[in-house]
Amino acid sequence: MAAANIRSELRFILNGRDVALSDVAPDQTLLDWLRLARLLKGTKEGCAEGDCGACTVLVGRLTPAGGLVYEGVNACIRFLGSLDGCHVVTVEHLAAGDGRLHPVQQAMVDYHGSQCGFCTPGFVMSLYALWMQSPNPTDQEIETALQGNLCRCTGYEPILRAARAISSYGGTEKDPLLAERQAMIARLKALADGARVEIGEGKKRFVVPTDLDDFAAVLEAEPAATVVAGSTDVGLWVTKHMRDITPVVFIAGLQEMKAITVQDGVITLGAGVTYSEAIATLSRHIPALGPLITRIGGQQVRNMGTIGGNVANGSPIGDTPPALIALGASVTLRKGAERRTIPLEDFFIAYGKQDRQPGEFVESLTVPVPPAAEKFAVYKVTKRRDEDITATLGAFRLALAADGTVAAITIAYGGMAATPKRAFAVEKALLGQSWTEATVEAAMAKYAEDYTPLTDMRATAEYRAMVARNLLLRFYVETTTSGEATQVSRYEAA
Ligand SMILES: Cc1cc2nc3c(=O)[nH]c(=O)nc-3n(C[C@H](O)[C@H](O)[C@H](O)COP(=O)(O)OP(=O)(O)OC[C@H]3O[C@@H](n4cnc5c(N)ncnc54)[C@H](O)[C@@H]3O)c2cc1C
Ligand code: FES
Ligand code: FES
Repeated sequence: MAAANIRSELRFILNGRDVALSDVAPDQTLLDWLRLARLLKGTKEGCAEGDCGACTVLVGRLTPAGGLVYEGVNACIRFLGSLDGCHVVTVEHLAAGDGRLHPVQQAMVDYHGSQCGFCTPGFVMSLYALWMQSPNPTDQEIETALQGNLCRCTGYEPILRAARAISSYGGTEKDPLLAERQAMIARLKALADGARVEIGEGKKRFVVPTDLDDFAAVLEAEPAATVVAGSTDVGLWVTKHMRDITPVVFIAGLQEMKAITVQDGVITLGAGVTYSEAIATLSRHIPALGPLITRIGGQQVRNMGTIGGNVANGSPIGDTPPALIALGASVTLRKGAERRTIPLEDFFIAYGKQDRQPGEFVESLTVPVPPAAEKFAVYKVTKRRDEDITATLGAFRLALAADGTVAAITIAYGGMAATPKRAFAVEKALLGQSWTEATVEAAMAKYAEDYTPLTDMRATAEYRAMVARNLLLRFYVETTTSGEATQVSRYEAA
């Protein structure tokens, strides 16, 4: 449906107040606006690149079922223009009107979870988001929720103790967002007027399309515009590289791009599905993808970042493309009303060059679920376990014939070439052969035909080449010795 009407005002709710802005730059970050325009300085700037979590705020948005979900996000790389129809909650909104601290804040005080205090508002907001979902979290849940928050002072243990104790300070009856939830849903519904938002002129313009068809029409008319989904890549183009991204089309709010379906052994993901939204379905059907996703950024990045963005960005060290290529995924591209579907591996042409025409966008991804008899594994190798970018990532899918020979094998790597890339020579050396250590070791020599890796700050070329070979050996060992690689993944810090 084309946009019925156009609004030149961005509308959202900040803590308790309605906000309407008609003068907003497309690259204005939420963090700068909070601190400089609203003087809400509880939200801090540490890194300005989504790593430290000092800028964590909650963003609430309506769900298709009419509910309201709050997620922690990095305000430093979130653009204001992406917030139309949302509820932004900063740390200033947590204490009661009479000054009594929120249970999360009180636990942090009592358990000495704060020293210099710079990281504290970010930790409080991440813990608050966790507490809303899981009032009595496991240690694993706490650790996952705090992957994206760094503290230089406390050593973390006091923060973990505080996290375990929050519910002893009061249950959800002490939650200000719960108390105002029904009223907030009504207020947010009143903001959802179905209008396309257009603000600014010429290159300084940004658009928030009203729905998927409207997005297709906007991008076809303005093919040079930067598409911004979760902004976990594009945010850094602005904060770290000072790039001009205008004009911009913000698509994070498009519900149709968030569809997840599973039918006839195929998972279809709308390009706007975030990691947090995808993880349950992907883990259920392809267990190796769950641990992979929890190694991507911190919780805030996973709440914003989309798999469509990871693919469209075309980085050679993006984590999902090699895994999806090994699984035989396809990508559906759309321009106006025209759609085409191609194998994902064909989408990546060269460094920084994808098979995407001007005005075309990634609409969805289809991922075949491997049959239970097949073995699938992903190994991400980084310098530290959490919140680190891949040095080398290998993904393997294997089908063995009844006689123990390799009936089918697909191997794809990240960090080994200018694009995510299949290891065709290695696959060829294995196909039809017995799945034995001798065959695998012979195939390892073929990596040199497939890849000429680079040396950079993450790893040397020699290291990458060695790791790539050894990951195949590891896959072999896991598929034969313990059988663990039957849809299981393991991760190593280098
Ligand atoms: C702290 C931090 C840690 C990170 N860790 C990892 C990691 O471990 N592994 C990893 O792979 N990545 C990581 N990333 C990178 C990033 O989170 C991912 O690449 C993410 O999937 C990008 O999705 P997005 O929605 O945020 O994309 P955006 O930043 O919004 O966009 C990225 C690119 O894709 C384009 N784009 C987005 N959606 C579409 C669409 N539907 N159609 C056409 N073009 C589109 C944009 O124009 C842009 O070129 C990290 C980022 C941060 C900030
Ligand atoms: S300031 Fe560090 S994550 Fe935003
Ligand atoms: S208390 Fe100082 S950085 Fe965490």
